Order: sequence, then C-alpha cells, then structure tokens
Amino acid sequence: MKNFEFCVTTDVLFGKEQENLLPEKLKGFGKRILLTYGGGSIKKIGLYDKLKEILKDFEIFELGGIEPNPRVTSVNKGAEICKKENIDMILAVGGGSTIDCSKAIAAAAYYDGDSWDLLIGKGQITKALPIAVVLTLAATGSEMDCAAVISNENTHEKLLMGHPYLLPKIAVLNPENSFSVPPYQTASGSADMMSHIIESYFDKEQAAVPDAISEGLLKTIIKYTPIALENPNDYEARAQLMWSSSLALNGLTATGKNFMWSCHYIEHELSAQYDITHGAGLAAITPKWMRYVLSDETVDKFCEYAINVWGIANSNDKYDIANKGINATEEFFKNIGLPSTLKEFNIDSSKFEEMAKKAVKTGHLESAYVPLNTKDVIEILKMSL
Ligand code: NZQ
Ligand code: ZN
Repeated sequence: MKNFEFCVTTDVLFGKEQENLLPEKLKGFGKRILLTYGGGSIKKIGLYDKLKEILKDFEIFELGGIEPNPRVTSVNKGAEICKKENIDMILAVGGGSTIDCSKAIAAAAYYDGDSWDLLIGKGQITKALPIAVVLTLAATGSEMDCAAVISNENTHEKLLMGHPYLLPKIAVLNPENSFSVPPYQTASGSADMMSHIIESYFDKEQAAVPDAISEGLLKTIIKYTPIALENPNDYEARAQLMWSSSLALNGLTATGKNFMWSCHYIEHELSAQYDITHGAGLAAITPKWMRYVLSDETVDKFCEYAINVWGIANSNDKYDIANKGINATEEFFKNIGLPSTLKEFNIDSSKFEEMAKKAVKTGHLESAYVPLNTKDVIEILKMSL
C-alpha cells in the first residue's frame, strides 16, 4: 500500500428536503450566487422553483442550457457572468455535466483569457470561486471530487482539469431529485460508477481496504440499479445509487493505489468525437478491455473480482473463473439496457487511430495497470465494434 493523503472536505447533506439547509450553509460565502443548470430537467421536476423560493434572500444570477458533455463555450459564458456580476459562489444543480462546467467556470472566473487554456496547460488555476451542488443524477462523482471534464467541439477534444480548489464545499444529495432520471441515463450512471471503481480496483498496487470497499460498492450498484430501473421512485434504490456515486470517485477506493486509469481515456475520445453518453460508452469498452488485458499476470486479480463481486464459484481453472466474471459484467450492462458494441452508437473504425493516439497521450496509458500503446487501444476499439 502506497502513502496517500485523503482530504475530502465536502459538506454532504444527504436525504429528503436537505435543500432547506442551503440558506444557512451558503450565507458565509456571500449573497451573489450563480445558479447553473442543464437543458431544463430541473424545471420539469420543480426543483428550480423550489430552490428559487428557498434562496429568496440571495441575489440569483443564472446560466442554463449547459450541455451534456459540457462545452468550453459554456464555461466562457459563465466566467463572463461571474466577472461582470461579482459572483460570490456557484450553485450547480444537475448531473456531472452541470457540475463540471461550474467547476471550470469557478476557476475561469479568475483567469484572463480563454478558459480552454486551463485545460491544455497554457494557463494555471490560481484560485476558484466556491462551489455548492444539488445533485440530480447519480453517476460521475463530480459532487465530491476535484475534477472537471470539458469538451471542445472545434478540436474534438475532451480534457480534464483537476485542482483541490474545485472540490465542492457543499453537496446536497437528495435521492428524490433523481426519481425522474430516465432509464438510459440511470443505467449509464451506474456503468460510470462501476467503471470508476473498476479503474482503481485493477491496479498494480494491492490494497485490501480500498478493494473491500470497492467490492461492496460494486455489489450495491449491481443490486440496486435494476430496482431503480423497475421502479424509478424507489427511494432506497435511488439513495444507495446516489451515495455510491460519491464514494466511487471521492478518492476512497484509490487510497494507497496508483490511480492510473485506462477505459476512461478511451471513452473520453469516443464522447469527444461522437458526443455519446459517457457511461454508455464505458459499458461498451470495459468488458473488451478486461478481455484484452487478461493474462497470466492479471488472472488472479480477475478471479478475485469474479468471486467477490459476481459470486462466481471458486475452482482450479483460473481463466474460467476470470472469464465468467468478465461475461457477468458484460451481461449486466446488456441487461440494464446499455449498448455492448460501438456499432450501436453508429461508430465505425475510421477514427480509431486518431482516438487511440490521443487516449494514450492524455491518459499516459503506457503506465497503466496493463500498459497500452496505440496499437493496443486500436485492438480494444476493434473488439468493441
Ligand atoms: O440537462 P438536463 O435537462 O438537466 O438533463 C440531463 C442530461 O440530459 C439529464 N438529467 C440529469 N438529472 C436529471 C435528468 N433528467 C431527468 N431528471 C433528472 N433528475 O441527464 C442527462 C445527462 O446529464 P449529465 O450531467 O450529462 O450526466 P452525467 O452526470 O453522467 O455527467 C456526464 C459528464 O461528466 C463527465 C463525463 O465525461 C460527462 O461529460 N465526468 C465527470 C467526472 C468528474 N467530474 O469527476 C468523472 C467522470 O468519469 C466523467 O468523465
Ligand atoms: Zn466516468
């Protein structure tokens, strides 16, 4: 187990009606709030009106229309409002896209120039506005992590910025706000959480504590996703998924490990090129990556995964156990309604080489759990076709 620092200071307000605590929690940050949201789901579910009423003693400015796979143009728009209106704090209401965009806005508010500079390393994050979150979709873990993923439509790039300043100060996790999440987004969210856990679980560093937490979280997501799909208003299922989302990527499952990911960098290229849903892309890629990296070096870890997560019976045939675990992963994604091939997204092989090169470079995939070069990534993409 490697040395690590674990400092996650987000004030999590979990459960029904926790939005009501916001005025008390926000008052120390100032009066002028930028309320950010996506394409309108928060209005449909009445959350927008509810928050406007709860926050009536604050001065509210707004940035709506934040896209899934949020664009740098929205970040620039938000940063401009923050500068012009002397915003004190950002309140992001929505899923990972709204939260990520808000984090980037928070940093860009203190940067003179195009906010894309902060993603390509041309500019540095020196400061950020405080961020609070009302989560409406269990998926990315952005509500309790320091990262933001932003897309540039012109260059077909999707890049990550990370800084401790971007960690939300407050996160309202009211599972009722996720009752209205459609089945495809619910399933994609679960695939995303599972992938966050799997990326750290399969790591060169062995670490019993985080891996036990990972196995528990995976089993929870596997149990509750079908329940939430069957009955979207099942509070317990939505609650378990929402808390799993945060714990899957707040750093806990990566403590003492290398934190060198693989599938995410491959998927980010897919969503950068084809604007697909992140979790759905991961569902298509992850089992193929598992098959590709299964070898004498990794088979023991895959057996651990198969037995402890999927309940596969132990036997003398390690490869049989490992493959059963991989098949179970693939079947699960299919059963919750997610694509298992890239064809289902109308993606062909024409951009494989370009995407593979970018994934290897941005993800430092040559240092991953199983090192991957461009040729390897092309193979994984071909297997996913
Ligand atoms: O835009 P609205 O109208 O709100 O609709 C959204 C959107 O269409 C809808 N939705 C959200 N909550 C809803 C709802 N619909 C009905 N009822 C609700 N309660 O769901 C759609 C998808 O929303 P989005 O925010 O895009 O989804 P998600 O939370 O999966 O976020 C995906 C983004 O996060 C990035 C992804 O790459 C992607 O850009 N990620 C961020 C990470 C991070 N910050 O740490 C890590 C992840 O690995 C990921 O890369
Ligand atoms: Zn993800």
